[in-house]
Amino acid sequence: MRAHDWIAVLDFGSQYGQLIARRVRELNVYSEILRFDTPAAQLAARKPAGIILSGGPSSVFQPGAPLGDPALYELGIPVLGICYGMQMTAMLLGGTVQPGRAREYGHALIRVSEPGALLPPDAPQLKVWMSHGDQVAAMPSGFRALAETDTCPVAAMGDPARRIYGLQFHPEVVHTPRGAEILRRFAFDICGCAGDWRMAQFVQESVASIRDRVGENHVVCGLSGGVDSSVVAALLQRAIGPRLHCIFVDNGLLRHGEAEEVERTFGTAFGMDLHVARARDRFLGALAGVADPEEKRKIIGRIFIDVFAAEARKLGDVAFLAQGTLYPDVIESLSPVGGPSATIKSHHNVGGLPPDLHFKLVEPVRELFKDEVRALGRELGLPSRIVDRQPFPGPGLAVRILGEVTAGQVELLQQADLRVQEEIERYEGRDRIWQSFAVLLPVRTVGVMGDSRTYENVVALRVVESKDGMTADWFRLPDAVLARISNRIINEVRGVNRVVYDISSKPPATIEWE
Ligand code: XMP
Repeated sequence: MRAHDWIAVLDFGSQYGQLIARRVRELNVYSEILRFDTPAAQLAARKPAGIILSGGPSSVFQPGAPLGDPALYELGIPVLGICYGMQMTAMLLGGTVQPGRAREYGHALIRVSEPGALLPPDAPQLKVWMSHGDQVAAMPSGFRALAETDTCPVAAMGDPARRIYGLQFHPEVVHTPRGAEILRRFAFDICGCAGDWRMAQFVQESVASIRDRVGENHVVCGLSGGVDSSVVAALLQRAIGPRLHCIFVDNGLLRHGEAEEVERTFGTAFGMDLHVARARDRFLGALAGVADPEEKRKIIGRIFIDVFAAEARKLGDVAFLAQGTLYPDVIESLSPVGGPSATIKSHHNVGGLPPDLHFKLVEPVRELFKDEVRALGRELGLPSRIVDRQPFPGPGLAVRILGEVTAGQVELLQQADLRVQEEIERYEGRDRIWQSFAVLLPVRTVGVMGDSRTYENVVALRVVESKDGMTADWFRLPDAVLARISNRIINEVRGVNRVVYDISSKPPATIEWE
């Protein structure tokens, strides 16, 4: 599918492997992460313009350390080894590596002895980020040192004739301020990439490859209202039009107005063949009397599969299921330290469908990162309300209503949450927020209203900043915004007389309360 040039990143288990691919893609050069032991012949067949060998936690001296195919240096394709990737390069090409006595970790200043090819031409010194134990003691023949520090005589090396380079530091992290420029020099000047990879091109190529894979068959896609499934549906519609059938299971546990929004956007505006399974009563019926969070999740997961399967059977002859698997899910299975892992998302997991529904998978965004999926959505004309939507758990508001879930509580939480959404929407710092929502607590507290005593619900406000949801910090929302949210919820939502703000970070707390 790749008519344009691209760069392969071989993953040796670096915590920064994904970052390298992202940085390269930010240069509008397509980049893909491959297993560290991808055979050179296989690489050559896919014609990358360059190969980057990532860092990794191993030492080349460890037994069983991951090694690349030595023949990859013979392909005539430029190679850039980063940290472990450089040490391995030195070793495989006949140089020597010296075991580290101490790990060098953090900021360092390197002296540039040979500016120009890989390193910027105008910087005698560069601030970089180091994280290594071993270092190159003697370079393989043909190599020259491009930079050094007091403790590291080869901070960068290169063999310009063979176009093989190595960096002891990490150009892909923000702590190396001119790192992006170094990657740009590698991609553009050394590999000769054109930098012409754009989302519009991705759309064209994906449409072609979806048509190729699906042929004349029909495809079913589960729409959740979230970003990934929405983008997948829009892309498939572009590719196969009326042969795409979307199923939206309305579990009654979405935020205020979201179910209607999905119907409006996909059914009306996009004109998709949208099948809405209105299953609110079934979900709420099964949740009656259940307070345990895991139990609630299981019930919701089971009913989701049941409802989805019943809807899918009605469609008749459908060969494919479209899924919004993302690149980070795929990468995990490539890393030597990550081990094999399921590439099927747990979110609205349709992996557990009954055996009579045996679909082949179409996963058209499995090569994209989340922010690229959003860019793709914009390219496909999806509204910002959908494309920029915050993460939302599959089991919906059921994880934000602590204790038993009833219709009344869902309604109450939707109303409180709507006020949160509206006020956050008005707040100019909203782009820094990862998630913002209301949680309904299973306690009531005393309040006063006029002359009388009230005994009503407590709503907790959760607003966090985060990069990926794995860790998070509570967001320092201005007092005025907090005050407006609190006033509006207490005055406008019947049944709430107290609002509290959650000031816990993750870990040890989680983002959702469950
Ligand atoms: P926690 O609460 O574990 O949540 O800190 C981390 C992130 O995951 C989201 N989340 C889910 N997303 N299906 C999803 O797709 C789920 O079942 C689910 N549960 C939690 C949560 O909103 C946060 O962004």
